[in-house]
Amino acid sequence: MRVLGIESSCDETAAAIVEDGHKIISNVIATQIPFHQIYNGVVPEIASRKHAEWILPVVQQALAEANMTMDDIDAVAATNRPGLMGSLLVGLTFGKTLAWSTDKPFIAINHMLGHMYAAHLANEIEYPYLGLLVSGGHSIICRVNDFDDIEVLGTTIDDAVGEAFDKVAKFYGLGYPGGVIIDKLAQNGSPLAAKFPMPQLKGDNHRYDVSYSGLKTAVINQLDQFWNPEYEKTNENIAAAFQETAVKILLSRLFKAVDDTGLKTVVAGGGVAANSRLRSMLAERSDIKCVFPPLKLCTDNGAMIAGLAYHYLNRGETSPWTTTASARIPAFKRGLKN
Ligand code: KG4
Ligand code: ZN
Repeated sequence: MRVLGIESSCDETAAAIVEDGHKIISNVIATQIPFHQIYNGVVPEIASRKHAEWILPVVQQALAEANMTMDDIDAVAATNRPGLMGSLLVGLTFGKTLAWSTDKPFIAINHMLGHMYAAHLANEIEYPYLGLLVSGGHSIICRVNDFDDIEVLGTTIDDAVGEAFDKVAKFYGLGYPGGVIIDKLAQNGSPLAAKFPMPQLKGDNHRYDVSYSGLKTAVINQLDQFWNPEYEKTNENIAAAFQETAVKILLSRLFKAVDDTGLKTVVAGGGVAANSRLRSMLAERSDIKCVFPPLKLCTDNGAMIAGLAYHYLNRGETSPWTTTASARIPAFKRGLKN
């Protein structure tokens, strides 16, 4: 079964064709980064306009690269939540219209479940496992029981981890998106250049929660207070020290979840899953099997949407034409079912 997957929740216009939930036939990602770079962040109005301009050529390219027409496609899927409303509506409306006009089933996909599924495109992974969903909008530690059944154990109480990378990069004028740039700079810096405080979240209900506003404030407003005078205050050193703490915050909570649940497989997803320090620090725990998506599938893409949609179709589930977009997914604390 071949699914055409469309992703337009933020600043990438993407379309992919995936066969039977795992074989990527084409995967086209048109990034809008150059248009948002001068503003140091995503401008929602520009994002939705670019999606509207690009969605047709991107889908056409996905078909062309696969050497296929819509006759070769069995179903269409598109992200409908969470994300920027205007951006989501472009991909969702295009996907529904294309499916309806070609008489194919349509499946609306939750973007975060898509990120969680990305690693499955390149690996055989058995459920249940612990998920680490880390992107520009989310930082989630979860127990993943199935492709549509995720129990959120912990999340951020303030900024998302990717957001912290982006804000620190913006403050120091390093560029956008901050995560990739900080990751690169950090490779020539020392994590010992500053010792930033770890968040102190008290109480059992915060056992797996993370917080990034304290680290962000420390790096941006109180750098001197935490700086090691033996190091020069270069962008490389700031990046390395910040990144080290940002990753440690995540892993301190994740490792608690590993110990408490006994689940020894950790699967990562989302843009921050591309981070090299996160990958190397996780690899140091030899008792944990870590699965990361290939770099291209960490950030937003259509393949994770098409791949995940296959499993709904396999169960005979499709979405009604009345399906609409929503900027948020409710009840994060209670689970992410569907
Ligand atoms: O998953 P994604 O493409 O979009 C969202 O769903 O948010 O993630 C984008 C986020 C941005 O905050 C970006 O700075 C971050 O992922 N990111 C990284 C890296 N590559 C992207 N953060 C840390 N290290 C990276 N190598
Ligand atoms: Zn994303």
